[in-house]
Amino acid sequence: MTGRVAVVTGAASGIGLGVARRFAADGYQVALLDRDGEPAEKAAAELRAQGATAQAYEVDVADWAAVRGAFDRLRADLGPVEVVVTSAGIESFDAAAGITQETWDRIIAINLTGTFSCIQAALPDMLAANWGRIVTISSSSAQQGAPYMAHYSASKGGVIGMTKALARELAGNGITVNTIPPSLVDTPMARDAEARGLVSVDAMAAMVPLGRAGTPADIAGACAFLCSDDGSYITGQIIGVNGGMYI
Ligand SMILES: NC(=O)c1ccc[n+]([C@@H]2O[C@H](COP(=O)([O-])OP(=O)(O)OC[C@H]3O[C@@H](n4cnc5c(N)ncnc54)[C@H](O)[C@@H]3O)[C@@H](O)[C@H]2O)c1
Repeated sequence: MTGRVAVVTGAASGIGLGVARRFAADGYQVALLDRDGEPAEKAAAELRAQGATAQAYEVDVADWAAVRGAFDRLRADLGPVEVVVTSAGIESFDAAAGITQETWDRIIAINLTGTFSCIQAALPDMLAANWGRIVTISSSSAQQGAPYMAHYSASKGGVIGMTKALARELAGNGITVNTIPPSLVDTPMARDAEARGLVSVDAMAAMVPLGRAGTPADIAGACAFLCSDDGSYITGQIIGVNGGMYI
């Protein structure tokens, strides 16, 4: 049991929720950040009922000042932040010729800027401790491209570049920074895209070499390893947890 303070963004649903559950089971004190306050609070209450220390914070990661405020509150509640996993994100499927400035800006603001602002808010604690673990959730769309997702793929490519830059900058401070780019994970995001007729989760799962869609627990397991002491010599890496979809 670590007792370390871990912040998970996008923790009300899908991959973020899976990571929050895994961290709680591993003994971290977990701060669940999400723009949807009610499901985040429900998830935190579920973890507390299992004996974990968990608090929910409603915040839009695209709002820089709100992120600072949320970190001030969670630091007061739980203590200095040692681990950050950034899973908050949105997707959109739009033909490149029709992407509006509003849609482009919103995706970059949440997926890329929101990832950075949450990491930046945690850095003073990690620098003071000379220890930290950061895992960003990017996407295989930034590795292999994805039609109708130029904006989304660009935001996730930015996350990968930022992860590598931070890894180099922070390596001397005992802070590791890695990214996991999922391919197909069966989450509300994927099912929502399916409900809108944009993808078929089962058809895509059949194309995965390991024969199934990923689960939030698959991603959480890799996160747990990267954030553990066993992961101390891994930084700046793209850790594919994708069933062999992108090799
Ligand atoms: N599911 C997949 O197949 C897949 C594949 C590649 C990458 N990803 C990435 O994984 C991450 C998690 O995706 P998921 O499938 O769990 O999706 P999800 O929709 O199930 O969960 C995302 C969570 O992020 C929250 N969120 C969205 N915008 C926010 C904001 N502005 N501020 C705070 N919280 C916000 C949502 O409320 C939600 O709880 C995303 O970054 C996504 O791009 C997912």
